[in-house]
Amino acid sequence: MPSKFKRTHYCAQPTEAQIGERVTLMGWVNKRRDLGALIFVDLRDRSGVMQAVFDAGDLLEADFDRAESIRSEYVLAISGKLVRRDEETVNPLLPTGTIEVRVDEFEIISKSETPPFEVDDDINVGESVRYKYRYIDLRRPVMQQRLMLRHRIVKLARDYFDENGFIEIETPTLGKSTPEGARDYLVPSRVHKGKFYALPQSPQLYKQILMVSGFDRYFQVARCWRDEDLRADRQPEFTQLDLEMSFVDEDDVITMNEGFLAKLFKDVLGKEIALPLPRLTWKQAMERFGSDKPDTRFSMELTDISDIAREIDFKVFSGAVEAGGSVRVINCKDSVDKLPRREIDSYVEFIKQYKAKGLAWISLTASGEIKSAITKFMTEEQVQAIFERCKAEPNDTLFFVADSKDSVVYASLGALRLKLGERFGLIDESRFDLLWVTDFPQFEYSEEENRYVAMHHPFTMPKEEDLPLLESDPGKVHAKAYDIVLNGNEIGGGSIRIHDPAIQRRMFAALGFTPERAQESFSFLLNAFKYGTPPHGGLAFGLDRLVMLLSGSKSIRDVIAFPKIQNAACPMTDAPSFVEQKQLKELSLEIED
Ligand code: AMO
Ligand code: AMP
Repeated sequence: MPSKFKRTHYCAQPTEAQIGERVTLMGWVNKRRDLGALIFVDLRDRSGVMQAVFDAGDLLEADFDRAESIRSEYVLAISGKLVRRDEETVNPLLPTGTIEVRVDEFEIISKSETPPFEVDDDINVGESVRYKYRYIDLRRPVMQQRLMLRHRIVKLARDYFDENGFIEIETPTLGKSTPEGARDYLVPSRVHKGKFYALPQSPQLYKQILMVSGFDRYFQVARCWRDEDLRADRQPEFTQLDLEMSFVDEDDVITMNEGFLAKLFKDVLGKEIALPLPRLTWKQAMERFGSDKPDTRFSMELTDISDIAREIDFKVFSGAVEAGGSVRVINCKDSVDKLPRREIDSYVEFIKQYKAKGLAWISLTASGEIKSAITKFMTEEQVQAIFERCKAEPNDTLFFVADSKDSVVYASLGALRLKLGERFGLIDESRFDLLWVTDFPQFEYSEEENRYVAMHHPFTMPKEEDLPLLESDPGKVHAKAYDIVLNGNEIGGGSIRIHDPAIQRRMFAALGFTPERAQESFSFLLNAFKYGTPPHGGLAFGLDRLVMLLSGSKSIRDVIAFPKIQNAACPMTDAPSFVEQKQLKELSLEIED
């Protein structure tokens, strides 16, 4: 740097112990207060801020004039004596609130235009402005802390898995497009006209092949791409902490990763996590919480009343049960006096997005009166049986969904449960509830595609006892798959893999692949498996989600330095953009209007 100044400390580094010493600090002007003969500047860097005092009495006139020209976000080097602040200027909220630097030398290293918004944790500006000026947004202390936390988590992960014998190996990002999974991001090849690479949705097949190669334990901080609709917890490019282990079964993978999570929570949040973590089977999770990623920080669990409903003279209920579905209830405790009719009506609308055909309810008022449109179909005994089953007390509201498909009942009541949990402040935000969900179904039926698709992925091993059902009753096959859930978010998932090429072929067939198509898409994997394959399994954490939750952020965009916005664009760089005709020609591509 062509400056005579040499930094001695970060801005927030000096303490009262250094009072009397000369310090040289560099950073950005956070705030400036001009009191005439005295100018106070809060100088900021990634460590925090330090108050610098420019006193007309200490400086040459020309220098003080220069100090008067200082504005927000200028970059300065300051030098001077560290002193104790006057009593009346002490700021108990700041770590450096009792000290300040009396500046006797300084340099304006770089000037700044007036920034589009203030560098402050509590800004109120739209996301498009924040992301267009992301470099300024990232100066905000909260953003700096989040990205530094992300660094610590990645470092901790690398250390933990290294200590446990994992080897970090990079896998390609220019890969092969394979069917199944989400939509690929494609990269056209110049050399191979008409052919495309795909950016990996995960390093899944490479890591399995590394097991075939004998690396035994693999780990990677892996960038993944999926061309899906964006949500608060989804980005088109995101990062996995990805790992794979040989000669293991489900418990080995689970135990290894619980060890990581315990270390993470201890080191980052100072929280002790009791191991082993709780586990729910997928079925238990769905039946109790209506979700495969249950938020267990509050109860309001689902209750199955199908047996009672079957006898009720109300076609919506009895018909659903007869058609093989169910009727389930959530009991929103202590709510009747807080739930106006129009709010209940809004929930009726809300659950429709989960394909529920209706939402029935019974309010049991504080005085024991029953308000409902459906009790007229029930006998007194049936109403009482439902109350008893749901542990209904005065001032409780019961919400019912009936459907011929359990999946609709679960999805709608599961979502309503979360909404009511938030609405009634039932979620203890200070809690971190970690749990495993295990024993997933191998397949789910896709109405769109009219066939079974893999719930985790096609390389997941079915439970051995279910193998005979692969052809005859695929809907009943369970997988050796597990997800790790934190406060209702899926922060990771994995499985034991198929390592027998014959089973892998049966799996492709169950997914509707002809042998030719399976060979064409996955020959590299099937070929690799011919040459000695260890049993193996693994898991991938969604790093962005993990950092989001550990930092208390609401969106993964807050823990990614340069995220994409809702329409998958980057307002700062304006990506994606048109390219020159020459580039298209080189790639033999033409754009249709
Ligand atoms: P899966 O598809 O479950 O498994 O992904 C693993 C974890 O990655 C995170 N994740 C995402 N995070 C942000 N944006 C996205 N679009 C996104 N998609 C997924 C989630 C998820 O739990 N290869 C397997 C893992 C394995 O079997 O080992 C896989 O990719 O937190
Ligand atoms: P109806 O007789 O269709 O007017 O329905 C009577 C009540 O049952 C209304 O409150 C509906 O919202 C409710 N309802 C209708 N379909 C369902 C369903 N599938 N599950 C739960 N409640 C329903």
